[in-house]
Order: sequence, then C-alpha cells, then structure tokens
Amino acid sequence: MRSRAHIKGHPLHPILVSFPIAFFTGTLISDTIFLATGRFLFSQMAFYLALGGIVFSLIAAIPGIVDYFTVVPPESSAKKRATKHGLLNIGVLLVFTMVLLLKNNPEMSIYVILALEVTGAVILTVAGWMGGTLVHRNQIGVDHRYASAGKWKVETIDQNMELKDLDTLKVNQMKLFHVNGKRIVIGHTESGFVAFDDFCTHRGGCLADGALICGIVQCPWHGSQFDVRTGEVKAGPAKEPIKTYPIESRGQRYFLKL
Ligand code: FES
Repeated sequence: MRSRAHIKGHPLHPILVSFPIAFFTGTLISDTIFLATGRFLFSQMAFYLALGGIVFSLIAAIPGIVDYFTVVPPESSAKKRATKHGLLNIGVLLVFTMVLLLKNNPEMSIYVILALEVTGAVILTVAGWMGGTLVHRNQIGVDHRYASAGKWKVETIDQNMELKDLDTLKVNQMKLFHVNGKRIVIGHTESGFVAFDDFCTHRGGCLADGALICGIVQCPWHGSQFDVRTGEVKAGPAKEPIKTYPIESRGQRYFLKL
C-alpha cells in the first residue's frame, strides 16, 4: 500500500534508513581498524559516525512511525512484524548511544566498545531483514497497482455514509475508504459496486492492494481469493470468508450500509 510519508510516490523511510545503516556499520569498521592499528584518528571517526547514525536514525524514524500508524494494516502479521522491527531499531539506538557515552571515557576498554558495536550491528541486521520483508513481501509503502487500475485513492466517509465520486471507478478498480475506524474497500464489478472489509482473513492482508477480476479479489500477500459479492473463499490459504456490506443506490447517489 502506498506510503503516506513520501515524495512523489517514493516512500521516505526506506530511503532514509540507508544513512544510519551506513553510519553504524562504519562505526564498527572504524573501531576495528583502531584496534588493529592503534591510530586514534579511527576511534574519533567511529565516535562521529555513531553520532551521525543516531541523528539519522531519529530522522528516519519519523516517516516510519507515520507509515506504521497509517499504512500497515491493523491486526495483521505485518503489524506484528512492524512492531518488532521498530522495537529492534530502538534497541540499536540505545546500544550506539551507550557506545557514544563509553567512548567519552578514555579508560574504557576498546573490547567492551567493540562488543557493544557488534551487538548493535547484529540487531541492526535482523531489524533490516524485517524491514525488507515488510516492503518486499507485505508491500508496505509500495504503490504496485496493476495496469489501468487508476490512481491509488483513500477517502474518508462522513456520517451519512454517502460514497462520493464512484463514477470515477472503472470496472475491476477498487478504492479504500475509512469509515468509523474501519477500512472498507469499494470495488466496481461487472454487475455493480460492492463493499467489503479491507482485511484478508488469512493474515490480515490489505485487499485494496490486491487484484479485482470478474468479481473475485485476490490478496497480494499469499494469494487467497474471495467472491466480493458474498465474501466466500474461492481459493486459500484463507479459510474464513471476508465481510461484505450492501450498497444502496438512490438515483445517482450511493450509500454504504454498515
Ligand atoms: S494474508 Fe495471506 S492470503 Fe491474505
């Protein structure tokens, strides 16, 4: 699903995380060279690299937090993964903050500092791996709509439940609506408009990100398929149907019935 923190569709979080990854890795390399050569210049370099890593971690965290709360589907496997990813990154931040403080003490053993840096690098690798899964597998921040699917749209429905601008939705296109804290997908099928939960019953995948063809929506995470008129499962791994909602038409106007 497209990121909310982006520049012209390019999500900011994956761009910005490159900096702390480079800085923290550089910290470990510089201190290793310091240990091998005894040249204090490398210890100083490690100090400033750790400082840069901490600053850029905090900057990179801002779009990450925005996407965590607005893009990652709630109660999904991706939400759990994103929570662990965030907590591990906080751990990395704490480890390198400790490194920075210890490096101010000239009596501190380089072996203790290096042990902390290796620990931080390992946690960083695991957190980065999870971040990669969130992007490449769960497609968080990816605007991957198929050809002719139109522009990705998210709207909020007001209290009278009127679905506006549905005429802009072509057959087999979908649009995501936020209503009373729920995420509802409105799809246009050959036989009219349909409404269903943006929640795959397998692991909470975002169905609005999937493909709608001939009244069947396919989840982008593991390929479960559902009939969007009845909610019935057409193909697994999902076993439970999705929830569907009626749409009432009054002339040219459409209203969602929850
Ligand atoms: S989350 Fe697994 S198929 Fe949808």
